Amino acid sequence: MDQEIVWQYDEFKQIGKDYSSQSEVEVYDSSHATFRDLEAESLRVLDLLELKESDALIEFGSGSGTFALMASQRCRHVHAVDVSLAMLDLSREKTSHAGVSNIEYHHAGFLTYEHRELPVQAVATTLALHHLPDFWKGVALKRVHNMLSPNGKLYINDVILEETNATENIKALIEHQAAVGGDFMREDAEAHFREEFSTYDWVMEGLLKRSGFTIVSKSIEGGVLGTYLCRRSA
Ligand SMILES: C[S@@+](CC[C@H](N)C(=O)[O-])C[C@H]1O[C@@H](n2cnc3c(N)ncnc32)[C@H](O)[C@@H]1O
Repeated sequence: MDQEIVWQYDEFKQIGKDYSSQSEVEVYDSSHATFRDLEAESLRVLDLLELKESDALIEFGSGSGTFALMASQRCRHVHAVDVSLAMLDLSREKTSHAGVSNIEYHHAGFLTYEHRELPVQAVATTLALHHLPDFWKGVALKRVHNMLSPNGKLYINDVILEETNATENIKALIEHQAAVGGDFMREDAEAHFREEFSTYDWVMEGLLKRSGFTIVSKSIEGGVLGTYLCRRSA
């Protein structure tokens, strides 16, 4: 995006959960372990993406770095992009501890990352796109489209809502998070819906199609947790 555009959304300003805060980052892996298995999840995504050794991948919103580390074992190069310096520091520490050298970290986001290399074969993003309001999700997806090689794959997993029973499904998710992770996870889930920008599946699908993607598969767990595998269609 043109750096001159002063009305561009400031993606470095954290909304909802403050992932720039050291204390949030320190508890990230343990709090998320109460409701997800990050390593098993990463393996499932990597199997779905069917990466070849010669492939390169960009991850947006790389967070504490688990997926990037695992992806680095399956492909030539990983670009891990995140707006939080604290998350990037933690990821870099894990990477150096693991002796991995094919991950490049970028302090940037969906709207500001400039991909200066050849187009990549895959882009993945989990629980990050909802940080952007819908108009800016569209801008982000068009930028992602331009970073992918023809037929390149896009994996998105995020809080994405089916319209039917949306309110009931949100309440059920909040109760589930509270049951597995106590008050911390209840407040985390409540803040998500109150302050962040999760959207409907039909909005997401319109944005994906208009950004030049074909949806290969879709699932919405519990009416609230969406997963899309897409291909760059043009
Ligand atoms: C809920 S965490 C998800 C981290 C990781 N992908 C996971 O699945 O555990 C959201 C991450 O997205 C990052 N983020 C927020 N807005 C972003 C943006 N506009 N572009 C890229 N990353 C962003 C946050 O700093 C944070 O690290």
